[in-house]
Amino acid sequence: MTRHTIRRGLAILSLLTAGVFLAGCSSSRPAADAASLTPPFLDTPVAPRPAMTSATVAKGKQLYDANCIQCHGAEGKGDGYGAPFLVPPPRDFTGGQFKFRTTAGGLLPTDDDLFRTISRGANGTGMPPWKYLLNDDERWALVEYVKSFEPRFTNARTLKAMALPDAPGRSRDAVHGKAVYLKMQCEKCHGEDGRGVGPSSNAMVDAKGRHVNGRDFTQPGSYRTGWTEREIIRTLETGMNGVPMPSYTGVMSKQDEYDLVAYLMSIAGPGSGNQKRQLAKGMEGLGAPDRVITLREHAWKYEPAEIHVKRGEVVKIEFSATDNGLGAGHGFALDGLDQSVFINGAMVGAPLSVTFRVDTPGRYKFYCATQCSTTELHPKMNGVLIVN
Ligand code: HEC
Ligand code: HEC
Repeated sequence: MTRHTIRRGLAILSLLTAGVFLAGCSSSRPAADAASLTPPFLDTPVAPRPAMTSATVAKGKQLYDANCIQCHGAEGKGDGYGAPFLVPPPRDFTGGQFKFRTTAGGLLPTDDDLFRTISRGANGTGMPPWKYLLNDDERWALVEYVKSFEPRFTNARTLKAMALPDAPGRSRDAVHGKAVYLKMQCEKCHGEDGRGVGPSSNAMVDAKGRHVNGRDFTQPGSYRTGWTEREIIRTLETGMNGVPMPSYTGVMSKQDEYDLVAYLMSIAGPGSGNQKRQLAKGMEGLGAPDRVITLREHAWKYEPAEIHVKRGEVVKIEFSATDNGLGAGHGFALDGLDQSVFINGAMVGAPLSVTFRVDTPGRYKFYCATQCSTTELHPKMNGVLIVN
């Protein structure tokens, strides 16, 4: 199939009746052709920071105006013209409320945190992974520029990543974790079944009074910062500023906290957490694919909806833009293999293909990993990968 070049600033956001097409100037840089992993937040490499000169912020502004303005707005208020179509809405940088951090609850993010978020995007949201379009120095210039919207950054004492509780020696107890889940009242917001709807769900709003969805723990691909034990521990420690997800620092024992995380991971899709992690490691450097499949999005459905491959085969799935271009904002995740086979917003900066190998025969559900304008991940965008 023809390779699509990525258009800078192109973003497709929609699951409203019509798509919204945000096209910027098109500078064609070849799409990265990789096994396209979105690493978990903590595992996202932070490039060495270049010396900041007076020109850095100016360069940041120029990059921002070309790439970020349509969602985050000219003044960083999260009110770009695409904003009304996005759930969750783009961040208002002037509020200084950031979700993805290594710092304690209520604090600003570190520069490294911002660099990571800009590099990897936020799974399942409109926020693209910019590392595929902008080089390290450019992303660092953006960190500086994003900070310039919020005066507290200038006065901030040196922000530090908080120490996370290290793993307890003995193995995790997911059954006890369920008891912790109930005791901590996670179910008020995330639901007793962990699917993200609980008694408080209707009342959940962000700092600006807009409705916020809780996370559905049965869909590993929907975790915005990644589906690993350490990442979930980090979320529990730091909380998410500006939304109802509290920080639980010092609230439970280390053991309870790790058991709780084991419980959350146990309710995610088919396949055990270990299986997912082992397969994730195998995805790098697979070499040339044995089979190439074109997956198309049409009217919010995948075509084909059923894919057959052989066990152990190196499979490459290439995403094809559609007649109406709506495929651009969609993603792809494979249940049971989510950490390894996961693209957020394929075609919006992310690579247009994903390469993987499945060694265990079975039926694997695949689904759209991007959530935009609905409360669910695109509900009809799923299919089945049959491995013989
Ligand atoms: C297509 C829309 C879109 C574009 C373009 C976009 N963003 Fe975002 N961005 C979002 C959304 C949506 C969120 C909120 C995600 C969430 O709340 O989980 C976000 C969140 C963020 C955050 C906050 C993360 C946190 O910890 O709270 C930063 C920083 C950010 N974007 C930077 C950028 C930069 C820099 C650019 C340009 C290079 C950019 N964004 C372009 C949609 C966009
Ligand atoms: C008051 C409501 C509330 C309570 C109580 C609550 N959460 Fe959350 N949680 C949220 C919301 C809302 C989000 C999504 C925030 C967002 O992304 O906008 C969230 C997100 C998360 C995430 C997602 C992290 C990611 O990377 O996407 C995890 C994990 C999580 N919560 C775990 C828990 C656990 C475990 C408990 C109990 C100890 C808990 N939450 C209690 C509201 C709550």
